[in-house]
Amino acid sequence: MDAKTHWEKVYAIKAPDAVSWYRPHLETSLALIEGAAKSRSTSIIDIGGGESTLVDDLLARGYTALTVLDVSPTAIEVTKKRLGNAAEKVRWLSGDILEIEMEPHVYDLWHDRAVFHFLTTPERRVAYVRKVTRAVKRGGHVIVSTFGPEGPTKCSGLEVMRYDADSLHGEFGSHFRLVESSKEQHQTPVGTTQQFLYCYCRVE
Ligand SMILES: C[S@@+](CC[C@H](N)C(=O)[O-])C[C@H]1O[C@@H](n2cnc3c(N)ncnc32)[C@H](O)[C@@H]1O
Repeated sequence: MDAKTHWEKVYAIKAPDAVSWYRPHLETSLALIEGAAKSRSTSIIDIGGGESTLVDDLLARGYTALTVLDVSPTAIEVTKKRLGNAAEKVRWLSGDILEIEMEPHVYDLWHDRAVFHFLTTPERRVAYVRKVTRAVKRGGHVIVSTFGPEGPTKCSGLEVMRYDADSLHGEFGSHFRLVESSKEQHQTPVGTTQQFLYCYCRVE
């Protein structure tokens, strides 16, 4: 099953606050983004934004150059509907991150929470890193969050990879300078915990 078919099925049956990765606010992402993106005109792309409230919170903080990409048109529509008129201030991209054409060096900041860990073959990870390298400006910021070493081995019925800071940074390579990393115990809506890892890199 391709990524679009899989994620469309997930979002067709699950409420936004019922998926295991749901949190009312992505506090760690927000803190890292606000720390990195000092100007409110910083060009930010959220990869696999899904139905998360990150875009709402970034708009509320005054960010004006936001793009949200997701392979699921349903997730994008739900988020747009929630935002109402404010959705017009956001650029929406519907497509698979590995397939969609990315413009060269247009983003100052790339954010991905819980997408990269679904790439379980080296070829797919290399293709993803190529997209980041093409799309992000030199000196730009890359914030990627995956399951940590003690995180789950599956999510949403799919196999996932688990990373520590060294192994995740190793996937990106020396053009990416690791600035900081942290782990988070995420509480799922059913009360279990999942370990997430966050890495923040600068593009050299
Ligand atoms: C686990 S959810 C995380 C959603 C959101 N980032 C969050 O933290 O709440 C993964 C999201 O990535 C999207 N996704 C998965 N594979 C993708 C791909 N290859 N290209 C683009 N989006 C993808 C899914 O549709 C889903 O919305």
